[in-house]
Amino acid sequence: MRVGILGSGLMGSKLGTLFARAGHRVVFSYARRESKLRRLAREAGRNARAGTPSEAVRGADAILLAVHWSRVEDVLEKAGRLPGRVVVTCSLPMNREDTALVIGRTTSGAETLAKRLPKARVVSAFNTVPSEVLPGVFEARRRAARPSLVYCGDDAKAKRVAAELIRDAGFDPVDAGPLEIARYTEPFALLVARLAYDGEGGPELAYRFERCRR
Ligand SMILES: NC(=O)c1ccc[n+]([C@@H]2O[C@H](COP(=O)([O-])OP(=O)(O)OC[C@H]3O[C@@H](n4cnc5c(N)ncnc54)[C@H](OP(=O)(O)O)[C@@H]3O)[C@@H](O)[C@H]2O)c1
Repeated sequence: MRVGILGSGLMGSKLGTLFARAGHRVVFSYARRESKLRRLAREAGRNARAGTPSEAVRGADAILLAVHWSRVEDVLEKAGRLPGRVVVTCSLPMNREDTALVIGRTTSGAETLAKRLPKARVVSAFNTVPSEVLPGVFEARRRAARPSLVYCGDDAKAKRVAAELIRDAGFDPVDAGPLEIARYTEPFALLVARLAYDGEGGPELAYRFERCRR
């Protein structure tokens, strides 16, 4: 697939690199310096290149939205219209201090994004894992037992695309249901982040959430 990365920070740079290494064609976009995008593309190998947000979304089979909530409007304006596009969002609706969710209970960041992009196909995924675990999970992807990763959305095609990317990143995709489930996964993601960064557990906590099979 052709994957456009909107936001090449901790999440976007790592996921984009893994997608490129898994064989997808990746365009890194949206960082403060273009030199960073070029470096990321160089390091990710021949499947990756640097571009602007509008170049990243052009012809993309999937778009990864990986910016701080305060930058969503700016990056979407730069990307341009996204009718019919699969938008996989890992962005959590955090306040500027990153201490609390600014949306919750009756809606979610993912649903708010879907309203902002009524013609796009929005899926929420990847936001329940700290970025630090991503390279290790990818390296271990050939093992039988993979860590689970939940995703949710309302569009069946978009969910198939998201599940493929989740699998290619080394996780076992778990369909959590419609997009409104993001009302639960987003606070859950914040909990995981708190445990990982504020507590003593460390980011490896993300590995401990496994699907229970009878
Ligand atoms: N980090 C995690 O472990 C994690 C886990 C789950 C969910 N999330 C969510 O994923 C999203 C992305 O998180 P992140 O940690 O990857 O954030 P980040 O490292 O801050 O990355 C954000 C990207 O946006 C770019 N950016 C910021 N302001 C900009 C501006 N004015 N102009 C151009 N580019 C700008 C940054 O540029 P620079 O590269 O130049 O800084 C960076 O590439 C957030 O919504 C977060 O809540 C993160």
